[in-house]
Amino acid sequence: MRLLFLLHTLILFARPSSSTAIVTVTAAPAIPSNEPSYSIASSFTSAILNSTNTYRRQYNASSLSWNTTLEKFATSYLQSDTTCRFAHSGGPYGENLAIGYPNATASVEAWGNEEAKYNFNDPGFSEETGHFTQLVWKTTTTVGCGRRLCGTKGWFVVCEYWPRGNVGGEYAKEVDRNIDGGGGTRLSSPIVAAIAVVVSLVQCCVIIVVVWWFGTAKL
Ligand SMILES: *[C@@H]1O[C@H](CO)[C@@H](O)[C@H](O)[C@H]1NC(C)=O
Ligand SMILES: *[C@@H]1O[C@H](CO)[C@@H](O)[C@H](O)[C@H]1NC(C)=O
Ligand SMILES: *[C@@H]1O[C@H](CO)[C@@H](O)[C@H](O)[C@H]1NC(C)=O
Ligand SMILES: *[C@@H]1O[C@H](CO)[C@@H](O)[C@H](O)[C@H]1NC(C)=O
Repeated sequence: MRLLFLLHTLILFARPSSSTAIVTVTAAPAIPSNEPSYSIASSFTSAILNSTNTYRRQYNASSLSWNTTLEKFATSYLQSDTTCRFAHSGGPYGENLAIGYPNATASVEAWGNEEAKYNFNDPGFSEETGHFTQLVWKTTTTVGCGRRLCGTKGWFVVCEYWPRGNVGGEYAKEVDRNIDGGGGTRLSSPIVAAIAVVVSLVQCCVIIVVVWWFGTAKL
């Protein structure tokens, strides 16, 4: 499904003194221009915050609040980008870009889903995971985004994050593993593991008893 959508992305990744822009291109087609999560400002804000904070909870990061300074920055940048060229703004914030997703939630999920390619055993920046690491960066506290309809290419979303993430050398402490057990279920402690074993044994016994009971009942 993701391959059906066109994604031009740019990642602005930060080092204390320098920054570098990297372009990644994924695939495909056109999008509803009337989608409320883009066209209605309040729906856009709540969809972005809901999805962003859903990911952040999973990766042990605090919820972001909406920052109108960042929203204004993103919006004015998009207004200046009259040809929808998908270049990064060059601004002082962390920045995630997406285009062509069917709704605002799906745009954020495209960033969150990069987690599948992130190597927690070798933390750092990669073109394929830079949106994810900014999304769940622990010391980021606020976000503000803008969007613009770019003809048949669909909606172009620009999110700014402050304090900015993707700071070189800080990935290990800033990008936590999934603590929620969702997806790749991880048992968080020996006690939980022991409980899981006991529950499995009990389920197994119940199944044996039920099968036996049906077996004897038919005789
Ligand atoms: C909130 O975000 C999550 C993750 O993107 C999504 O699964 C869920 O549908 C969203 N809920 C609402 C009400 O938009
Ligand atoms: C979650 O983050 C807090 C502080 O940010 C840290 O102390 C705690 O160990 C983290 N929990 C997990 C399970 O990583
Ligand atoms: C919003 O972002 C601006 C720009 O970085 C920052 O100065 C301001 O403190 C932020 N607002 C809040 C409430 O954090
Ligand atoms: C957003 O788009 C995705 C992908 O098409 C879809 O699965 C999801 O239901 C949509 N969410 C909303 C709230 O419309």
